[in-house]
Amino acid sequence: MTPFRSGERVLVGHPRHRCTLGEAYDHAMRTRAARLDDIDAIVAFTTGTFSWGDYVPGLFASWVTDDDGMTMVAVDDDDVPIGMARAVFLTEHEVWSHAARVHPDHRGLGIAGDLADALMTWAGERGGQVMRLLIDDDNLASIRHITKKGFTRAVSVVRASRGIGPGSFNPEGNGGRRHPSPLVSRPGKVQDLALVRASWSTSEVGRSLRGLVASGWRFHRLRDVDIEQAARSGNLWEIGNSWAITESVEPTFDICLLDTGPDEAFDVIGALIDTANNRGADALTAWLADTDWLVQAARRAGCDVIGHGIWVKPL
Ligand SMILES: CC(C)(COP(=O)(O)OP(=O)(O)OC[C@H]1O[C@@H](n2cnc3c(N)ncnc32)[C@H](O)[C@@H]1OP(=O)(O)O)[C@@H](O)C(=O)NCCC(=O)NCCS
Repeated sequence: MTPFRSGERVLVGHPRHRCTLGEAYDHAMRTRAARLDDIDAIVAFTTGTFSWGDYVPGLFASWVTDDDGMTMVAVDDDDVPIGMARAVFLTEHEVWSHAARVHPDHRGLGIAGDLADALMTWAGERGGQVMRLLIDDDNLASIRHITKKGFTRAVSVVRASRGIGPGSFNPEGNGGRRHPSPLVSRPGKVQDLALVRASWSTSEVGRSLRGLVASGWRFHRLRDVDIEQAARSGNLWEIGNSWAITESVEPTFDICLLDTGPDEAFDVIGALIDTANNRGADALTAWLADTDWLVQAARRAGCDVIGHGIWVKPL
């Protein structure tokens, strides 16, 4: 990028932020790998990122020392971080990007874009073929930033969540207590692998999610090893004609994949709520395809739902 137009000494590329050379240096956009001693500056501008806070301060140090990922910072003239972002390989060729944060005083200058460029270069040089990331549909600044970088919203996904246990009500189920589902979640077996794989690659919801499966807040294509590990760890479930893969992150019960159909979706979700209840979980979360009948079933089962987009760019 050519930062200044000769003669006028204005910062180009950011017309709303035209400024003199001296002021422009306040927004110098050098990027480099993050270091442990960046933590104070990072914590200072990320602690209040969202209304609920931020997870960055608690995880930054572990990311800097993690060999699978790269954390980049954008620094000012004094080498003090004013922005950060991270990318991590989830599989051999699939890269996940997250934790883009820019100091509130330096937003709107394309700093997150510079960090994304650096991370895409890093990932591409290491065999990354695709970069994905998740954005809450309400986060317009983030959507704008990532659109400018050439990402497209390839998948719509819904995060459903509800409380579990005796005190939890079902607001869309007559406002009363939930009855146990007529279906039961049965642990799946490693021998079910081919069935689960075939179903996820052909079912309406599996195709809608492009074959992705969640792990926490990240998504990659479902592989045989994911199904096998889920079966071995008691996290693969057969419910009627449906399949689920879960993750137990105490005290919540998280559904990472739900492969179901319109006829039984409501009872399948009910059966998983029963399982979560039996395990003493205090909340259930589920990543669901953004398909009308599935979202309605989740709502009927008492879940709040929030829409997100999974944005993708080939590297
Ligand atoms: C999302 C974020 C990383 C973007 O960083 P950035 O370096 O400001 O990105 P850009 O300069 O490309 O600006 C993106 C959009 O933010 C908006 N924006 C511009 N100035 C802004 C300001 N002062 N404050 C907030 N948003 C601003 C504009 O819509 C801009 O798009 P435009 O340039 O086409 O007008 C940054 O807003 C941020 O840290 N947000 C809080 C954390 C967050 O939401 N992270 C992403 C989680 S998925």
